[in-house]
Amino acid sequence: MSRQLTFLLIALCASSALGGETDLRALYSQPPEDWPAPHLSEGVEHRELGPLPPMPEPEDNPTTPARVELGRQLFFDPRLSGSRQIACASCHDPQLGWGDGRRKAIGHDRQIGHRNSQTILNSGYLSSLFWDGRADSLEEQALAPIVDPSEMHNTLEEAAATLNAIPGYRAAFANAFQVERISREEIAQALAAFQRTVVSRRSRFDRFLDGEHEVLTTAELRGLHIFRTSGRCLNCHNGPLFTDGQFHNLGLHFFGRRLEDLGRYEITGDKSDVGAFRTPGLRDVMFTGPWMHNGLFHDMDGILRMYNSGMARPKPREAHRDDPLFPTTSSLLKRLHLDEDDLAALRAFLEAISTRPRNMEPPELPPEPGPDAATPR
Ligand code: HEC
Ligand code: HEC
Repeated sequence: MSRQLTFLLIALCASSALGGETDLRALYSQPPEDWPAPHLSEGVEHRELGPLPPMPEPEDNPTTPARVELGRQLFFDPRLSGSRQIACASCHDPQLGWGDGRRKAIGHDRQIGHRNSQTILNSGYLSSLFWDGRADSLEEQALAPIVDPSEMHNTLEEAAATLNAIPGYRAAFANAFQVERISREEIAQALAAFQRTVVSRRSRFDRFLDGEHEVLTTAELRGLHIFRTSGRCLNCHNGPLFTDGQFHNLGLHFFGRRLEDLGRYEITGDKSDVGAFRTPGLRDVMFTGPWMHNGLFHDMDGILRMYNSGMARPKPREAHRDDPLFPTTSSLLKRLHLDEDDLAALRAFLEAISTRPRNMEPPELPPEPGPDAATPR
């Protein structure tokens, strides 16, 4: 080949590679409604990615500063637990992405729970909480860990009595809720109000959406495109939170085995829910590992390779061969045929939607009354 021709070819290749990148940047610099069409299965609603909306607040529990501050104290206060050793923050630690960094949670008496501690980041936006969606609101959710024998192992009566015996709490609840005695209802409301303030910081993806079209690298931009198209992620991880709020079976249920977790089925009893878990949001996901309901993955590349192969497709053991409950992995998951560069780009995009959560120091807690204090219980 002549030297001129080689040069010409190199120049052509370089310009077309550059052209591809410029095109993608130009395409995604348009308003999201003009972005390239996503690859969605039939019947899947197109919900586009976007910036976080303002946090909703229920009419009967406004997010007032007094309620938030009180909820913050309760969240970090181990005296809510039976042993007085375990706080919400033990498993939802701001320094660990508001999770606990463990495969599965460790609770009362160092018992190992059966699921991974979810991050509470952005949980105020969700209308279906827990991996299996068994709570509809933060208010409803907040009391469950207090009484869970493998988590905080307390009773609500005892938790309320403990708080009622602490003058600082009596005063703070009187101020925030205009109540004389503290009951479970205000405990739940204060915890919920605080958690509504725990939201993701602006990511580079948010800045891109706001018009700073140079803040995403070429790889991140390609990752965004793959996330929406050939990677098929948008079928389930969609909307501002990167979740459809629905339940899907990724084949990680260990049906009929020691680690079995049937997920949503345990709540609904509906055969089509066997092994299904709520799609987690992906904002800040790089800081919330290990991942999945059972904390099975410590390595994001491992997750992406699993998706590329079409996810887990477990086969029933002999004893379950004819079991009508044995579930099939979601038909929304398919072999993707992405190459190494594509997977690296997807990962780069997940980095671009992750901003290290701001640390929060544990607040000062109202002290116990001294031995001679005459506080009515
Ligand atoms: C022993 C560890 C532990 C403690 C203590 C704990 N949690 Fe959790 N938390 C978990 C686990 C595990 C899950 C997921 C459970 C499931 O899906 O079954 C979870 C889930 C949640 C969720 C749901 C998030 C989502 O995306 O749906 C919220 C909110 C939450 N916890 C708040 C709290 C509050 C408030 C407290 C204190 C009153 C608390 N947690 C105490 C381990 C813990
Ligand atoms: C069929 C719906 C569906 C599709 C398509 C899908 N996901 Fe998921 N994703 C889920 C569900 C459901 C879970 C939780 C499953 C579990 O724990 O058993 C999950 C979990 C994850 C997690 C772990 C998050 C955490 O907090 O534990 C990551 C990361 C993730 N998905 C990324 C992706 C990427 C990247 C794609 C595209 C390549 C994708 N997902 C496609 C439904 C889906």
